[in-house]
Amino acid sequence: MKIAIVFGTRPEAIKMAPIVKEVEKRGMQPLVIVTAQHREMLDQKLDVFKIKPDYDLDIMKHNQDLFHVTSAVLNDIKPVLQKENPDILLVQGDTTTTFAASLAAFYLKIPVGHVEAGLRTWNKTNPFPEEMNRQITTRLTDYHFAPTPWAKQNLLKEDVKEENIFVTGNTVIDALLMIVDPNYKFQESPLNRIDYAGKKVILLTSHRRENFGEPMGQVFSACRYIVENNPDVEMIYPVHPNPNVRQKANEILAGVQRIHLIEPLDYRPFVQLMNKSYLILTDSGGVQEEAPSLGKPVLVLRTTTERPEAIDAGTGKLVGTDYQTIVREAQKLISDTKAYNDMSTKTNPYGDGKAAERIVNILLDKVK
Ligand code: UD1
Ligand code: UDP
Repeated sequence: MKIAIVFGTRPEAIKMAPIVKEVEKRGMQPLVIVTAQHREMLDQKLDVFKIKPDYDLDIMKHNQDLFHVTSAVLNDIKPVLQKENPDILLVQGDTTTTFAASLAAFYLKIPVGHVEAGLRTWNKTNPFPEEMNRQITTRLTDYHFAPTPWAKQNLLKEDVKEENIFVTGNTVIDALLMIVDPNYKFQESPLNRIDYAGKKVILLTSHRRENFGEPMGQVFSACRYIVENNPDVEMIYPVHPNPNVRQKANEILAGVQRIHLIEPLDYRPFVQLMNKSYLILTDSGGVQEEAPSLGKPVLVLRTTTERPEAIDAGTGKLVGTDYQTIVREAQKLISDTKAYNDMSTKTNPYGDGKAAERIVNILLDKVK
């Protein structure tokens, strides 16, 4: 069986890596196609997981827009799929690579398997454009790999046939368990100089398109206030390279004492940083899924989430992008030990580390 696996961005690479490895473990060679919608951040992950792509479409442009990404993926993947004619194309998540590659496979009548299927906010513009990317991908998909029972219910509500939905867990937990190492020592400065035991380290990540401009400004101003008013807090922010994010981060956070703006981290140090942090502030999908496994409370800097499981389990809280709310909720977790302890229980609503194994079993059983 020829299994093609396509991905383009940092989170897709992390979440597809366990499937690439699992297919290899079964003695098969997956056909790995990267669109390189991300360049440096993708290459970092290919290195960590030792994946050598068979095809690299190399589409990233500086400050690219959605038209460029959609059309470049669609046009550039066409000859690859025509030449290789795989039995199935696996796509992951909700990026524009995911949507455009699924569309290309559909045009060429190649079956699509969607990893992390069924996440929904039902809000067309939030997250933008990811909610529509995943809704459209669902329509183009033949095999739906839902990470949780909730995701499966969403697909059933949209009349996806039950026999085509498989609850597998999220492969991000497989990746996390492959990489997490409590003894890992940071090589990079300033991470190797921070007093993690004596300080409360807050990890920040923020990159969502719908937060660009004013909402992201409020988030960063709230972060600045929190650090300036808590001498025992250090904040670390690996800044996403999107120029819209960088500009705002530099405007509001650069040069503030105890705020460290750093480059995006390799997966190994990033996981260790999550592990050593006191609290995580993020608008990232993947980080929301990883943090509960590490017992780290998360304040989600978004007004909607397609990942309600951690919120329901009480380890995450949706705080939006409003300045006052972020300051209030973060301050509570810094000052109130009981509130902190209530949120820092270890749970694992997103998987058990065996998602890739289940997905490959299903492919071997069902495809062809
Ligand atoms: C993309 C995805 C988003 C995902 C996020 C993960 C879409 C529309 N967006 O958003 O769903 O959550 O990735 O991080 O699919 N850049 C670099 N180097 C890199 C990566 C990005 O310089 O390695 C810069 C480039 O200027 C690029 C810009 O960031 O043009 C935006 O990249 P793009 O993939 O379009 O959007 P993201 O905000 O990264
Ligand atoms: N991540 C990383 N280095 C960083 C920041 C994040 O390796 O500096 C990882 C993180 O652990 C998670 C993934 O990247 O697995 C999340 O990617 P991102 O937030 O860019 O995208 P999203 O999940 O929101 O689509």
